[in-house]
Amino acid sequence: MSELNKIALKIISNGKGILAADESNGTMTKRLEAINVPSTPENRLLFRETILSSESMKECIGGVILYDETINQTTSFGKLIPDLISSSGALPGIKVDTGAKNLANSSEEKITEGLDGLRERLKKYYKLGARFTKWRGVYCISDKYPSKLAIHSNAHALARYSALVQENNMVPIVEPEVLMDGDHTADHCLKKTSEVIKKCFDELILHKVDLSGIILKPNMILDGSSSKYKISGEEISQKTIQCLQNSVPSEVPGIAFLSGGQSEIEATENLNLINKNNTTKFIMTYSYGRALQQSALKTWSKNTKDIKKTQNIFNHRVKMCSLAAKGKWSNELENK
Ligand code: 13P
Repeated sequence: MSELNKIALKIISNGKGILAADESNGTMTKRLEAINVPSTPENRLLFRETILSSESMKECIGGVILYDETINQTTSFGKLIPDLISSSGALPGIKVDTGAKNLANSSEEKITEGLDGLRERLKKYYKLGARFTKWRGVYCISDKYPSKLAIHSNAHALARYSALVQENNMVPIVEPEVLMDGDHTADHCLKKTSEVIKKCFDELILHKVDLSGIILKPNMILDGSSSKYKISGEEISQKTIQCLQNSVPSEVPGIAFLSGGQSEIEATENLNLINKNNTTKFIMTYSYGRALQQSALKTWSKNTKDIKKTQNIFNHRVKMCSLAAKGKWSNELENK
């Protein structure tokens, strides 16, 4: 078993999942402004140190993805953020892409940037305690998108990123996200997501990436958010499993889904059904941002000093997701 494989398994085994707390300052500003909290470095830190000090971290969270600002911050009680995460038994991770820009010659689509100087940044992040990383490729979906160009160029970037990350002894999270936006059917999402994931693996293999030392972070197979169709959770789980079974090589240890705009309950329920119906050998867990933090953020905004109340909300959400990662979640437990 390679060291990278051990790290990947440590992050995602036994119902543990990933907290994606790597919102860029721009995204975090949008989230904070929506709840009338000024987006200062101090407030961004305060929310994050509140949830990262929660009791459920120990039991449920295997890794936390951070943004550059946060990995360099020290909590109000004097602990470095990576040390706070490690003290709960989780591994610190870091988002290393520099965002999605318009793709030349297909300007309605995006290409994720950040390869320039990446090797040097990775060395710095390793020294700060990071043991895994994230890079998100983002694909819009419609009759004509994602184009072959977007599928190819994002897969190429994800593979070059992954090779550099492994060279620096960290586990790359490979995140190709086919967006929920649009009126497409789940079957169209299945077709396009399969194409996107297969191309990613073609490129990862070409770039000699050790597939046992990565974590795949895909979208679930859903109807578009403005589609007139609404398939059941059962169908979502079956189509998602079918997609991954047919497009992910067996060496990959596990899959950690993004929530992508699903509500907290939808993201939990769907993950639960995926695990109940999982016929693959892949671990299937969560790497949620919004679906872990939304309610906690709302509660926190009402009284940023009431740490316990925010932590209670966060603890519940995280525990529900970890139950779902074992296929043991239920409505009764949710509402207990
Ligand atoms: P969401 O779960 O909010 O989609 O965020 C996950 C993530 O890390 C997106 O890159």
